[in-house]
Amino acid sequence: MRLTAVDSVQFELYAAGEPVRVEVQDAIRKGGRPEVMAEDQSACASGRWPGCALADSGGGGQTMTDLENIQIRPIEGDDLQVAALLTARAMRDNPLHLAAIGDNSERRVRVMYGIFSRVMRLEGRPTLGAWDGDRLVGVADSAEPGRCQPSPRERLRLAPALVMAGRAAPRMGRWLSAWAKQDPGRPHSHLGPVGVDPDLQGRGIGSMLLTEYCSRLDGTGTLSYLETDKPENVRLYERFGYEVTSEADIIGVKNWFMTRESPGGE
Ligand SMILES: CC(C)(COP(=O)(O)OP(=O)(O)OC[C@H]1O[C@@H](n2cnc3c(N)ncnc32)[C@H](O)[C@@H]1OP(=O)(O)O)[C@@H](O)C(=O)NCCC(=O)NCCS
Repeated sequence: MRLTAVDSVQFELYAAGEPVRVEVQDAIRKGGRPEVMAEDQSACASGRWPGCALADSGGGGQTMTDLENIQIRPIEGDDLQVAALLTARAMRDNPLHLAAIGDNSERRVRVMYGIFSRVMRLEGRPTLGAWDGDRLVGVADSAEPGRCQPSPRERLRLAPALVMAGRAAPRMGRWLSAWAKQDPGRPHSHLGPVGVDPDLQGRGIGSMLLTEYCSRLDGTGTLSYLETDKPENVRLYERFGYEVTSEADIIGVKNWFMTRESPGGE
């Protein structure tokens, strides 16, 4: 099963060889899963899309439930595509994405979805999800120590996403190589991308994801490392014990590089 962009807001879900049109843009906002239109609701009913919900004809959307209903658990398999789209939407207006991809917000989502959906499927990348039932509302992806720079084979798998970036590809290349130069010289868990449903940000979901991510590292002595392009994110990460180790201007955007020592180890 795969998703390919057919225009700014619609994707086609190919299930069992048959294209099924899905409305993704609102689906994530409403229910965290693609919304299957009338022509093939059976795809949903048959469970070919995990966590799929039939279209909400009321159009009212789903509102946030209490934080106590949110569970943090890994995201696997086809749900990683939903995770990639949610994260691309969450980061749509991040300064680096604007500087690299330009003013068209739908294009920013499409290009970053192409990248995240491939990156999240690479080996050695645990992806945590914040789930409200079967609705995905937040994502924290990371690379295990030794996995944050793609191997030559993995670079080949990522190449189509950069091709899709078109004119933005050279800027994205400069961005990624500037980030790579900042990587700590010792083994580390590399956090990111991290994103929460845009309608639900600021309600504690990101903190729940970070609590789980950090608690998995605690006791292992593993260094955690991340890059960020927003000062409000620096404040959030500092609450979890991260410290800014350096700053740099990347394609005209200020970036902060942060590490967190985990207790434990030798
Ligand atoms: C960063 C992010 C994952 C945090 O998740 P969250 O659920 O919004 O965060 P929480 O509610 O647990 O914590 C709130 C804190 O997060 C930070 N924050 C960052 N972006 C925020 C946003 N858009 N709305 C609210 N808080 C935000 C602030 O420090 C805030 O603390 P404050 O209220 O004292 O200023 C989420 O806001 C997001 O997806 N932002 C856009 C994408 C992004 O920048 N991802 C991180 C890349 S490193």
